[in-house]
Amino acid sequence: MGAFIIAVDGPAAAGKGTLARRLATELHLAHLDTGALYRATARDVLAAGLDPADAAGAAELAGKLDPASLADPGLRGEEIGRVASIVSVHPAVRTALLDYQRNFAYHPPNEAKGAVLDGRDIGTVICPEATVKLFVTASLEARAGRRLRELETSGAPADAAAVLADLQARDERDSKRSAAPLKVATDAVLLDTSGLDADEAFGAAMSIVRARTRSFGSSQA
Ligand code: CDP
Repeated sequence: MGAFIIAVDGPAAAGKGTLARRLATELHLAHLDTGALYRATARDVLAAGLDPADAAGAAELAGKLDPASLADPGLRGEEIGRVASIVSVHPAVRTALLDYQRNFAYHPPNEAKGAVLDGRDIGTVICPEATVKLFVTASLEARAGRRLRELETSGAPADAAAVLADLQARDERDSKRSAAPLKVATDAVLLDTSGLDADEAFGAAMSIVRARTRSFGSSQA
């Protein structure tokens, strides 16, 4: 308790990552993209030639993740995202990654006074006592459009119908799994970014953070 934690949860391509990074910079907090942990596990599962359905194998690799490898730009690929949503279904994988996430939140690096974590289960499972919980969402079409532009910018081959189908499949897997499914925490504030650009989403998120921290009597934001 006592740490200043912002939980940013939501479905794939809702703009959580960009938003979480900007909040962290603005408020001088550390930032952890927890999706990178599942993506890195997926990368290591693929590299080891394991079946993503092999829970014990994936959990063993998750437990051995090298945090230095989380910055790997290769993690953003679509295939890795798809496999990440398969390995993340295994409770043993989630358990293997729990301590790293909690430790980051409660003992942020570089003496930061708190942390912003983005993912699917930050407000519900990882940090249920987070100071502010945002659930960032957008329509399937808006999210597919953003993911398509992201892929095009990175020079990766992109097919609109395939991107939409992939997001739909991931939404379904992330929401229906029994371990830490994607859902809105009861005390989260919903932020629909469908009609907002990145600056507008950031402005809306800052207003929510400010209102929330005022009601907590904190001077930190
Ligand atoms: O960036 P994008 O929204 O596409 O996904 P991500 O945040 O990088 O997460 C990739 C996958 O990891 C998700 O589809 C989830 O299945 C899983 N994940 C999770 O289960 N729990 C988290 N806290 C973060 C990601």
